[in-house]
Amino acid sequence: MKKYILVTGTTSGLGLAIAKAFLEENFIVFGTGRRIELLEELQNGYRESFIPLCFDIQDKNATQQAINKIFSTTKQLDCLINNAGLALGLEKAFECDLSDWETMVETNINGLLRITRLVLPSMVKNDAGTIINIGSIAGTYPYLGGNVYGASKAFVKQFSLNLRADLIGTKIRVSNIEPGLCSETDFSLVRFKGNREKAKAVYENKTTLKPQDIANIVLWIYKQPLHVNINSVEIMPINQTFSQLVVK
Ligand SMILES: NC(=O)c1ccc[n+]([C@@H]2O[C@H](COP(=O)([O-])OP(=O)(O)OC[C@H]3O[C@@H](n4cnc5c(N)ncnc54)[C@H](OP(=O)(O)O)[C@@H]3O)[C@@H](O)[C@H]2O)c1
Repeated sequence: MKKYILVTGTTSGLGLAIAKAFLEENFIVFGTGRRIELLEELQNGYRESFIPLCFDIQDKNATQQAINKIFSTTKQLDCLINNAGLALGLEKAFECDLSDWETMVETNINGLLRITRLVLPSMVKNDAGTIINIGSIAGTYPYLGGNVYGASKAFVKQFSLNLRADLIGTKIRVSNIEPGLCSETDFSLVRFKGNREKAKAVYENKTTLKPQDIANIVLWIYKQPLHVNINSVEIMPINQTFSQLVVK
């Protein structure tokens, strides 16, 4: 029987690697993003196994339409990977752009919530499904300028745990993955609003995680026996660790 997965944010970075990992496992992948040309590129490579859904996750109606399209194709979504997200800016809370905060909340929190809420009833009806949220170490460890980005990922962490609480008695699994520094994504380019020099400097002379590392872990979580729920996984590259507390 065909297996279906929805991965949000498959136009670059982690989502792209995760989508490819599941495509290689013969899943039918619904992949989302706003950059239609990148979705089409993926579809050209995988033909009918990849179904592109081009929409802005901040848009409630567009999200509903995309989910309708999924459920007109299949009644059983086996897995949902809530990956689409972004950081904008690295300024201190009293200097940053308020609209950047709003975009992060709309994308990382409200976007993820809408998708999840629209997908959950069918998973509950089928009494099957796996939800894997992409949080971040920023949801646990504060850093200068991480203000709302980190807070949005702390939301993802707590929401994942609370989903588990609500889903007791069902066979639906929920996990939260919290990666550290991961290169070969558009993450820093987006954070620094297209400034390539600034984005490049984040990873220069550093050993970083790669999207494939995260895709491997997502697949590993999914492939656990159905009675095994991995609550959370925190991952850092070998040379990333905690900073000292600041005393001034
Ligand atoms: N890279 C890291 O170091 C790192 C570490 C920890 C956690 N993460 C998390 O990993 C996830 C993936 O990020 P990434 O590093 O792979 O960055 P990325 O390469 O910039 O990918 C982000 C993805 O999210 C999609 N997206 C963003 N805003 C969207 C919107 N409004 N509507 C629809 N899609 C949207 C993008 O698609 P379009 O641009 O085509 O819309 C893109 O596919 C994020 O949740 C991020 O917070 C990243």
